[in-house]
Amino acid sequence: MKVGIDRIAFSTPNRYLDLVDLAHARGVDPNKYLIGIGQSKMAVPTLSQDIVAMGANAAQEVLKGLSDDEKSLIGLLIVATESGVDQSKASALFVHELLNLTASMRTIEIKEACYAGTAGLQLAADFVRAHAGAKALVIAADIARYGLGSGGEVTQGAGAVAMMVSANPHILSLEEHSVVLSRSTDDFWRPNYSTEACAKGKYSEQVYLEMFAQVWREAKSLGLTSVGDLQALLFHIPFSKMGRKGLRSLESMIPPADYERLTARFEKAIVYGREVGNLYTASLYLSLISLLEQDDSLRANDRIGLFSYGSGSVAELFFGTLQSGYNDRLNRAGHEAMLAARQRLSMSEYESIFSDSLVVDGSRQDIEDGDPAAPHALSRIEGHERFYR
Ligand code: HMG
Repeated sequence: MKVGIDRIAFSTPNRYLDLVDLAHARGVDPNKYLIGIGQSKMAVPTLSQDIVAMGANAAQEVLKGLSDDEKSLIGLLIVATESGVDQSKASALFVHELLNLTASMRTIEIKEACYAGTAGLQLAADFVRAHAGAKALVIAADIARYGLGSGGEVTQGAGAVAMMVSANPHILSLEEHSVVLSRSTDDFWRPNYSTEACAKGKYSEQVYLEMFAQVWREAKSLGLTSVGDLQALLFHIPFSKMGRKGLRSLESMIPPADYERLTARFEKAIVYGREVGNLYTASLYLSLISLLEQDDSLRANDRIGLFSYGSGSVAELFFGTLQSGYNDRLNRAGHEAMLAARQRLSMSEYESIFSDSLVVDGSRQDIEDGDPAAPHALSRIEGHERFYR
């Protein structure tokens, strides 16, 4: 039975910072950000645009057009995030209510840095294989925050990707065999008391590349990476240069024609990510959407490799096959319009939004709606509870 991604969509805040403005403000040559890091803009969320709101907004698009009967087949909702809003209650339960999903289902949140999106997808695929006729909704949503003036500031971003996983999927059928690797490292983390991530920047790049090399070698020895039949290779994209370094590490190992094809497709796979920045759990899947919507040379039955990396660290190299008619399930015009309609922030507006925070003393805080046109937003905090519209 084929199992995989049946529907997919992303959502990102309606404001961004141009990285040329950031470079000027930080006294850096803009080409360091545009070429050295490989990013152009980063999404900036306001307080009302937390991971629940962004995740529900992305999922709303995925559910569009589904009948109540079809929705009632969703037996599992997973939110993968490292920007959780509560230590106990799963953010997925807020999303569950906003989406008006059936009560008889499993609703959970999972974590392993950026890898959690893939963990969610693979768990969902196993769930669908084990429960005939069932579907699973996987949401990867995050806000990447490193701090004003920090080394990681240019690699911030925010957004969510939602995926419906089902049997006989319309977009990407997933292969059951993959190569996965776990190794405890301290390359990037965020202690419970901190709203900003800690990173050993260069070390994190090194671990990412080491783990990519290891899963690639293992996949090759298992016969999973015959590059001739890989039409594209996607990477976790904390910033586009990182994925490019991963791809470049293969240059001397694969035939030039294959390397050229994978490089051409990589350029299409980073179009959206360059505009929004790191989405942590969702970055690999934003790259998948970017590839599918921006590259019109792909065809049904093309095989795609996906490299997922989450600091701390877990890596997985897995594979999928494009399904006929996959194009009909995409929303290129809608996603491009969402990016084009965003408001460009000045540096002072960005710094002011970045410094906003929620009350922590139990008092009431009414939260200004950052995007009244979006379906969902965090609207109020009161008595330590969160309220959404
Ligand atoms: P940095 O100190 O700005 O690095 O930190 P740099 O000074 O080496 O410059 C970066 C690149 O710009 C270099 O190229 C320079 O040569 C180039 P590279 O050697 O890397 O190819 N450069 C220029 N290029 C053109 N024109 C110029 C110019 N000047 C310099 N004028 C770093 C960069 C990414 C380390 C930092 O931003 C950081 O710490 N980011 C956060 C950590 C991160 O994203 N790590 C990625 C791997 S870990 C991961 O992917 C997981 C993660 O997503 C989290 C999770 O799993 O949840 C982060």
